[in-house]
Amino acid sequence: MTTFDPTRRAVFVTGGASGLGEATALYFVNQGHPVVVLDRDAAKCDSIAARLGDRGAVICGSVLDDADVQRAIDAARTFGELRWVIACAGGGEVGGRIVGKGGVPHDMGIFQRTLDLNVTGSFNTLRLAASAMSENNPDEDGERGAAVLITSGAGFEGQIGQIAYGSAKSALIGMTLIAARDLSSVGIRVNAIAPGVMNTSAWEQGPPELKTALEATVPFPKRLGEPEEFARLAEHLLSNRYMNGHVARLDGALRFAPK
Ligand SMILES: NC(=O)c1ccc[n+]([C@@H]2O[C@H](COP(=O)([O-])OP(=O)(O)OC[C@H]3O[C@@H](n4cnc5c(N)ncnc54)[C@H](O)[C@@H]3O)[C@@H](O)[C@H]2O)c1
Repeated sequence: MTTFDPTRRAVFVTGGASGLGEATALYFVNQGHPVVVLDRDAAKCDSIAARLGDRGAVICGSVLDDADVQRAIDAARTFGELRWVIACAGGGEVGGRIVGKGGVPHDMGIFQRTLDLNVTGSFNTLRLAASAMSENNPDEDGERGAAVLITSGAGFEGQIGQIAYGSAKSALIGMTLIAARDLSSVGIRVNAIAPGVMNTSAWEQGPPELKTALEATVPFPKRLGEPEEFARLAEHLLSNRYMNGHVARLDGALRFAPK
């Protein structure tokens, strides 16, 4: 049973049932903010719902479905004003080179799905959440809300074989400043985080040697980034009222080589 409290800032996290989104949802709830997660993975939704308990809500659905996104926004607004949005739903499929072995061209479905999930899904989240936040009471700066998009180091230095994912993440880098300018009229700030390689549970399935090799490529500190470091950066971008239109790299100065 949730009770609306106008002094509480509700947080909306897409892709919040796994990895960086999950860590972010748990971080914000532990900071005392009610959190609503939207994720399409039903089993993971059950798990994060149990951990959030009555401090939040979980909607199982897709960022590409307007009705699902709106359900999550409506759920967030039952707790308090929806003021902060973190669009973590994203990822990629192995696509390979533009021209693969034997001259086979890149799979068009993989390219389209990757753009849909990362670019269209993040934009859909942003446009519907911003519309809801535009109804908030402005603070003394006129601010009504803030959003964080998630891009990647691959959006700056995409590697060979990452044409779909890198192009999608580049689009999000470009979207950040345009969205910040565009939403200035309603008092909503937009920033982005570009993680390098983060230490999520996905690494538990892979060979440990790969993780060790990657850690060695990070200039300093020589390790992967922790999900809580990501959540803390999101909190900073959302709460620092002069941060706007910025893409913050979180990567220990890692720059990806061509391959
Ligand atoms: N983990 C890293 O090292 C890293 C590095 C750079 C960028 N990123 C980006 O950070 C974000 C989170 O990555 P992660 O590693 O935590 O991934 P993850 O796969 O652990 O989590 C992504 C979540 O998004 C959900 N999701 C996928 N499609 C969805 C949809 N259509 N609607 C709703 N939810 C959907 C998945 O079910 C999953 O729970 C992604 O955008 C990813 O590209 C991650």
